[in-house]
Amino acid sequence: MTFVRACGLSELEEDTPKRVELDGTPVSLVRTEGEVFAIYDICSHANVSLSEGEVEDCQIECWLHGSAFDLRTGKPSGLPATRPVPVYPVKIEGDDVLVSVTQES
Ligand code: FES
Repeated sequence: MTFVRACGLSELEEDTPKRVELDGTPVSLVRTEGEVFAIYDICSHANVSLSEGEVEDCQIECWLHGSAFDLRTGKPSGLPATRPVPVYPVKIEGDDVLVSVTQES
């Protein structure tokens, strides 16, 4: 599993998603509830950036139709989205937020 630096921890404001591109993959970084999560930035229902949505209860809500995705699992909690979006492992090293978007282990 290869981790790459996504941003500085101090760049992430609580409950304010930040979109980054890692190896060509759009990723939304979310700092909430004392942790940092990385989730694929595109909604599974349509081509909409999740980082433009709101964060609440460890979920990120798609601003277009309101499906909320669990930041830990990527699963939608309600319609219209029915498919999960990928989530990625995160490591914090000092002020560096490291994310692995590769699938090999
Ligand atoms: S585009 Fe995200 S719920 Fe429809």
